[in-house]
Order: sequence, then C-alpha cells, then structure tokens
Amino acid sequence: MDFKQLLTQAQNDLKQVSCEAELESWRIKYLGRKSGLASFFKTLKDLSDELKKRQGQQANEVRQQLQEWYQKASQQFSNSSTVSILDYTRPGKKITQGHLHPLTLSLRKIIKSFEKLGFLVVEGPEIETEYYHFDALRIFPDHPARDMWNTFWLDSKNKTPSARKTKKDEEKLLLRAHTSPVQIRYMEQHIPPLRIISPGRCFRYEATDATHNFQFYQVEGLMVDEHITLAGFKSLITMALKSILGDNILLRFRPSYFPFVTPGIEVDVKIAGKWIELLGAGMVHPDLFKVVGYENNKWQGFAFGLGVERFAMLNFKVDDIRLFYSSDVRFLEQF
Ligand code: PHE
Repeated sequence: MDFKQLLTQAQNDLKQVSCEAELESWRIKYLGRKSGLASFFKTLKDLSDELKKRQGQQANEVRQQLQEWYQKASQQFSNSSTVSILDYTRPGKKITQGHLHPLTLSLRKIIKSFEKLGFLVVEGPEIETEYYHFDALRIFPDHPARDMWNTFWLDSKNKTPSARKTKKDEEKLLLRAHTSPVQIRYMEQHIPPLRIISPGRCFRYEATDATHNFQFYQVEGLMVDEHITLAGFKSLITMALKSILGDNILLRFRPSYFPFVTPGIEVDVKIAGKWIELLGAGMVHPDLFKVVGYENNKWQGFAFGLGVERFAMLNFKVDDIRLFYSSDVRFLEQF
C-alpha cells in the first residue's frame, strides 16, 4: 500500500471540506471501517513477521496522522460555532404558550369588579362541618330545605380524637354544597362594618347535564353595616353585574327562599329573549347575627351567591358546563 499517496490524497480532500457533514464523510472515507487503511490492517496478518512489523508500524503512523488532522478540523468547526451547519430553510419549532382556564378568567373578572366596589376577598374550607354548612344557616336537621343541597358526606371516623376539640368539631363532615358557610366563619371572627366576597369550589351530589355539574365555583358575597337596605343591594349588584356582563344587560329581581336570608330573592338576566338565573341573594336573617354573637338589632346585611360557570357560559358563549371540566385541549385552546 502506498502510504505516501494516501496521505497526500487525504490532505487534498481535507482542504475541500467546508462543513461538519463533509468532514464526517472524509472521516468515513479515510478512517472508517471500510476505508483502505482498515482493509490494509486486515491483510496484515498474512504477511511475514518482518513485513508485518515494518508495514504495521507505518500504517499506525499514517492512522495517527489522519486522526490528528481529523481532530484539528472538527475542532475548527465547533469553534466557528454552528454557522456552517445552520440550515436557514428548515421550518422553526413553534413555541406553545400556556394560558389561563376560561373559568379562571371569568372568576378573576368577577372578583375584580367586586374589589372595585370595596369588597375584600376571603376564603373558607371546601370540607365543612354540619354546623357551619347547615345549622348555623338555619337549615335544621329535618328542615325540607336540606334537600336543596344534595350533599356528599364524608366518613368522619377518619378524624383522630385529638383533632376533635370542641362540640362543633364533632360534627359530621361534608364537601360544601355552597359557599354560604363562609358568612358564619367570617362574622364569628370580625365585627361590622364588613364587605367580603368568598370565591371557591362547591360540590353537589347530582346527575350531570349541560347546565349542572357535581362540582362548580361560587362566589359568596356579604355586606354588613348599620344602614343596609335591599334597595342598596339592588343598586350595588346592578353595578357589579354591568361591569361583568356589559352595560346593556336587563336584570330581573324575583322573590325566592333561602333559610338564611329574609326576604330572599333571585336575580335573572335576559339573554337572547330568555331569562337566565344568575344568583341567589337576600337580607341576612337576624338569627345569623345572633349565632355569631353580634349585638341585638344593631346590624343589617345582605348576602348573595353567584355561580361562576353561569358567567363563563354567558361570557364565552359555551352551552355545556361539562366542557369546562373536560380538559379537552381543542376546547381550551379557544380562550
Ligand atoms: N347559597 C345559596 C345557594 O347556593 C345562594 C345564596 C347565597 C342565597 C347567599 C342567598 C344568599 O343556592
């Protein structure tokens, strides 16, 4: 084998190499498993001892030389960074950007418009006791009104005895079916005047359809002061709803019943010729003030509870509540 010629040829070829891919072809040609040099090494064993020694040594030197060149060249390419291998014609990788869930967007909008009216955001537990959820709100054990909230009861035996400190703690536990218990919890800890909203998740044991789900979000509202009237509530909620749904909405106030308010009302909005219920509300029942230990006859208040999904369905023109919980990316990508 003519080593000299091999080296000259390799050197000339290397001069033509202008990118990493070409260098790789060069490496395969001169140093690869099928290169002339490699086949020469394979024939080495058939030679006489003396020839084997001499030619083998030469071949080794040639290989070393080639490897040295190769290393130098590849270093050059990596030093001159990727410029020579950057293919400007390749399509780029699209960066996907995350965004907020439509329910989060609606919830934030609702919260913002009440914050503008001076309401403070507070939170309550999703697991409630029978006391806060029912009794303190005048929904007594055999009261037919308990049927209004189809309840998920929890196995309260899971509570360790040491965690049960007071009578209230011995109550049965449940997943809250509305956010109204927060009214009691907050009033127990604060003296009026107060103005709060409490957003949160609720759960009801019911069959799902396009407008009902077993989990949903509510925003509870409560305002207590010395001169609160139903007329005051009407004007405040009108203001809030207009800032959420738009100035041109038509509202309707209907008498209704909830054990913890008197009188109780419901508020509807007219959309495309149909009245759609938006929230339950009313003047806080005086018994609630008694339960939390407020001074007699000093305070009045109003409370309301609105369903966040309703607003999201109206805002985004979605006709099935279950879509919000489907985690279907084709649906979520639209917001
Ligand atoms: N908690 C009631 C419900 O979930 C709504 C409501 C809240 C009604 C506050 C009156 C006052 O149906």
